[in-house]
Amino acid sequence: MASVSGGASVAADAPGDRYRISVCTDGAALDRALAADVSAGLTSLPKDLPPKWFYDDEGSRLFGEITRLAEYYPTRREHEILRRVAPDVAARSGAGTLVELGSGFSDKTRLLLDAMAGAGILRKFVPFDVNEAALRATASGAAAAYPALSVHGVVGEFGKDLRAVPRGGRRLVALLGGTIGNFTGPERRAFLAEIAGMSDAGETFLLGADLVKDRARLLAAYDDAAGVTAQFNRNVLHVINRRLDADFDPQRFTHVATYDEETQWVEMWLRADGPQVVHVRRLGLRVTFGDGEAMRTEVSAKFRPSQIAAELSEAGFAVMSQWLDDAGDFSLTLAERVDGAKP
Ligand code: SAH
Ligand code: AVI
Repeated sequence: MASVSGGASVAADAPGDRYRISVCTDGAALDRALAADVSAGLTSLPKDLPPKWFYDDEGSRLFGEITRLAEYYPTRREHEILRRVAPDVAARSGAGTLVELGSGFSDKTRLLLDAMAGAGILRKFVPFDVNEAALRATASGAAAAYPALSVHGVVGEFGKDLRAVPRGGRRLVALLGGTIGNFTGPERRAFLAEIAGMSDAGETFLLGADLVKDRARLLAAYDDAAGVTAQFNRNVLHVINRRLDADFDPQRFTHVATYDEETQWVEMWLRADGPQVVHVRRLGLRVTFGDGEAMRTEVSAKFRPSQIAAELSEAGFAVMSQWLDDAGDFSLTLAERVDGAKP
């Protein structure tokens, strides 16, 4: 039996409680995690912060703006691929449950949900994100668009809360947008192993990854003319000010994007304009910045398609299909969890 919503059919055997949000990481847990990252990152050389701290409500809004910028091609390219291959992904995965890691606000999710609904197999959607407002908006939006869909949103952090993702049914786990690039090599290996660890043999993983390309295009994508990416980058300082009672002056930091051809990493930095002393009052921490000193706020790795396949295979997945957009800018890889020892 199927019910119909907006032309898409949804298999109607979801359990009674169709809508649920699990908060694994609340505001207090975020404060503790940020305190640990700031204590370590602002006392190391060079200073370094993990990119997950961009994404408070304003950061999530700014990321949405970035995805619509002319220079920022990844979202459009991934959308283009998904529009073409989502029915194939749905058919080959055979999954009734879509788990989306780092779901944000993206409308690309709908392409997958529509394809699964079109195949008559869609039952459940599990968005997972550290930003609670984005998570709730995405979860409630999907519940409204697909009335027979069971929705279980998880507010949590990668590396800590994936065990809260419900098991059962056949699942397709998606990590879109190139978010995999925001991990360094060892972090990425650990994260892929964690995703393999939460997947049962035969379940599938859909990975969106940005590809190596011309330096000028990469740098423009991370340093747009309108300055939206600069605002997004400085937002991490507002987050630290608010959550940890610090006194960063964000206007005294310049946004810098670099690309290293050897590591294939775009990096974002904040460079101090003049010597500065910052107090992180909640931590009793006094931090000095020399004039021109740069703090790294993001790694955004770029890949070659063969490297993605190799890393997935190392993690315990067998690649089923790999697709690129027409310009060869971005990749989507569908892989199946293979039986055997967990890596
Ligand atoms: N998937 C969307 C959004 C990508 S932006 C798209 O393709 O457009 C990255 C998303 O991952 C944000 O919504 C952010 O809040 C989330 N995120 C970043 N680091 C995270 C972490 N450590 N744990 C959970 N979510 C995280
Ligand atoms: C979410 N992530 C994949 C984005 C990226 O391209 O690395 C975040 C971003 N940083 C600057 N612009 C967009």
